[in-house]
Amino acid sequence: MNIELSEEHLMIQKAARDFAQNELLPGVIERDEHQKFPAEQVKMLGELGFLGMMVSPEYGGGGMDCVSYVLAMEEISKVDSSASVVMSVNNSLVCWGLETYGNEEQKRKYLVPLAKGEIIGAFCLSEPEAGSDATSQRTTAIDMGDHYLLNGTKNWITNGSSASVYLIIAQTDVQKGHKGINALIVERGMPGFVVGPKENKMGIRGSDTHSLMFTDVKVPKENRIGEDGFGFKFAMKTLTGGRIGIASQALGIASGAYELALAYSKQRKAFGTEICNHQAIQFKLADMATEIEAARLLCLKAAWLKDQHLDYDLASSMAKLFASKVAMDTTIEAVQIHGGYGFVKEYHVERLMRDAKITQIYEGTSEVQKIVISRSILKG
Ligand code: CAA
Repeated sequence: MNIELSEEHLMIQKAARDFAQNELLPGVIERDEHQKFPAEQVKMLGELGFLGMMVSPEYGGGGMDCVSYVLAMEEISKVDSSASVVMSVNNSLVCWGLETYGNEEQKRKYLVPLAKGEIIGAFCLSEPEAGSDATSQRTTAIDMGDHYLLNGTKNWITNGSSASVYLIIAQTDVQKGHKGINALIVERGMPGFVVGPKENKMGIRGSDTHSLMFTDVKVPKENRIGEDGFGFKFAMKTLTGGRIGIASQALGIASGAYELALAYSKQRKAFGTEICNHQAIQFKLADMATEIEAARLLCLKAAWLKDQHLDYDLASSMAKLFASKVAMDTTIEAVQIHGGYGFVKEYHVERLMRDAKITQIYEGTSEVQKIVISRSILKG
């Protein structure tokens, strides 16, 4: 593996860092408090090319590699994971899925505006009774000849009310199990499609997570992605790349909390000296720095494998499993280092701790990642 960063990588990393510090940091506490979607900031992310980073320029994207995406995701997530989850879903799940498996017409119509950030997309797999057990889809897409008739409910959908394009996974032929599942492109405003209220969440409170309800929604046949019955594989393949995005988000949450804790430990005095001079704090900082570096290497390895067109299923699950644990552990320690100040909003680390938790849940729980990893190692 060669992950030496190029000049271009460093430029992208700096652009993302500057954007996070200048545009995201100023209002992040208020957006979290009031569950306000970072609409203006997401628009700017689109204008800067961060919403379609890996899409070919032919389809309006930045033509960047996955390593660049990891670097940018880390920087944005250090400050605002409600913004970085929009970036992750749009890049990894929606744009990548359409570019890799969509036909030319679908790419021209949907991928181009998504990659340019003119609109954003959502990926809709989870249901009230189908989370980790993703083959148990209850949403149905019945084949009516020239269209599918879509009925059902999707849960926990990121970008639920701000998206214009939704990739919906639904069961067409229950007898065929996962081979009877399709992926359909649904547009906001199609008759029978209703967006439910925003979820009141523990973390990533600015992001808009909603249920979606479909009642007899007519979806044209040309909106199906891939062959009939390809929907479940489409979802699995897309999520494999998505896990690199969420692993990088977790990495950013961890490194953001670590940087704040390190800075605080150098200025806060206790027992006659800055607290970084106490071994109790030094040991925490040493653990945090080491675990973050290991998480970063796993994220970069998964991205590098993807860039080389090598198998990255195992690497992406390992990166997500490990980085999300590091995010949780590091943010808890960052709050501890801040003491009472860590428990109040102005110091940011309590928000990072709340945001960390979702990285162990969405795009496959830690337990799902362990299923993927153990199957891979047992297969040999
Ligand atoms: N690539 C390609 N195909 C794959 C695959 C992959 N990574 N993983 C599985 N498949 C295929 C299998 O080969 C199999 O096909 P065949 O029968 O033809 O061989 C088929 O899919 C079914 O696979 P499994 O038998 O392994 O399925 P399973 O029921 O045992 O489930 C699982 C496996 C890993 C647990 C899977 O269900 C899973 O990943 N669940 C979690 C779902 C998830 O991540 N949800 C997140 C929602 S999206 C989200 O959070 C986005 C957001 O808004 C932030």
